[in-house]
Amino acid sequence: MAATPQAEMVGDSVVVSWPDGTTGRFHNFWLRENCFCPRCTHPNAWERMVDYLDIPLDIVPLTVDAESGGLRLAWPSEAGPGCDGTFYQWGWLDRHRTETEARRARTHRLTSWTGSDLTVADVTVPYGQFATTDNGLLAVCENLATVGIAMVTGVPIEDNSVLAVCERIGFVEETHFGRSWDVRSKPQAENLAYTSYRLRPHNDLAARRHLPGIQFLHCMANDAKGGESVLVDSIAVTERFRAEDPDGFELLATVPVTFSQIHEQWHLVNRGTVIELDVDGDVVGTRLHAAVMGPVDVAPETMADFYRAYRGLLAIAVDPAMHLTFRLEAGMCQIFDNARIVHARRAFDPSTGARHLRGAYINRDELWSRLEILRRKGTDFRGGVTDRF
Ligand code: OGA
Ligand code: ZN
Repeated sequence: MAATPQAEMVGDSVVVSWPDGTTGRFHNFWLRENCFCPRCTHPNAWERMVDYLDIPLDIVPLTVDAESGGLRLAWPSEAGPGCDGTFYQWGWLDRHRTETEARRARTHRLTSWTGSDLTVADVTVPYGQFATTDNGLLAVCENLATVGIAMVTGVPIEDNSVLAVCERIGFVEETHFGRSWDVRSKPQAENLAYTSYRLRPHNDLAARRHLPGIQFLHCMANDAKGGESVLVDSIAVTERFRAEDPDGFELLATVPVTFSQIHEQWHLVNRGTVIELDVDGDVVGTRLHAAVMGPVDVAPETMADFYRAYRGLLAIAVDPAMHLTFRLEAGMCQIFDNARIVHARRAFDPSTGARHLRGAYINRDELWSRLEILRRKGTDFRGGVTDRF
């Protein structure tokens, strides 16, 4: 049996010495306010009831005991309903260490890819498996979480199928194009996608403050010449761009520009950076959409640098070496993370046959929630005294 970690009070914290020789420092206030006892955490809602303002900032535990299963703490009485005593399983404390390396280690890392790293077959799940088995659904969610794309084949050619595919994962995210929308070339197109022109690599609806999360495009018919689909990993594109032009990268990641989509029925204008970074400086996505960017509102002295950088990034995004190019056949549904993946379409000739896709979105949180639910299946996710987060 593994040795029991040791715990001692040091200054304003409890320091845990783990059997592997590492230590974790847990602040007293943090240890108090995360308590899972039924007075501090609602047993059904699993949300915090203890009030931050009732806990003295300099609270010190009365006792600290390293037991074989976890850390037991008793607290002085305070305003509010009080506490029954705190117990943290060692595993829970380990998973919630707050040292910088620990926080970084548990940040989800995206696997970047270029056109030669994967094929459509690698990320394809047949509809029957997706719709009726947990493993099929999990495979789709895992693909979206790691490489940002997934494909479901054999989806029934029916108007509402795209919504059924969405709802297998989570709630539909409605936008100004509706709960779902038809992509086909038509007169009076209110969107460049509803023409037969080529679409350069883009993130959909970049003029919205929040980009729609996960995008679904279900092919109802594709008999026209041309119109091939292209998916591009913006993590790989921006990594390459950062290596080639660090200053340009910095500019696109820090200087926001305006995106606008203006029509009789909507008026969407927002600012955002073309490259989006997380707090660690890692790229989480892009806001790349030449058709709706602008008018570019950077300072006059920055204008030339901006366009140079922007063209440099675009040149990489349109490089076929970065592309996964394929023909979407009737019944296929391509699914991708709309921030992390840029998608494109070659021009097609509508006189040669019908081309009709149906699209919809779900919020990205729905994907992550479904994925975690599938991963924890069969385990007692609260594990007696377990995770709030
Ligand atoms: C879209 C789009 C791609 C296609 O509707 O947002 O990019 O293949 N469509 O028509
Ligand atoms: Zn699009």
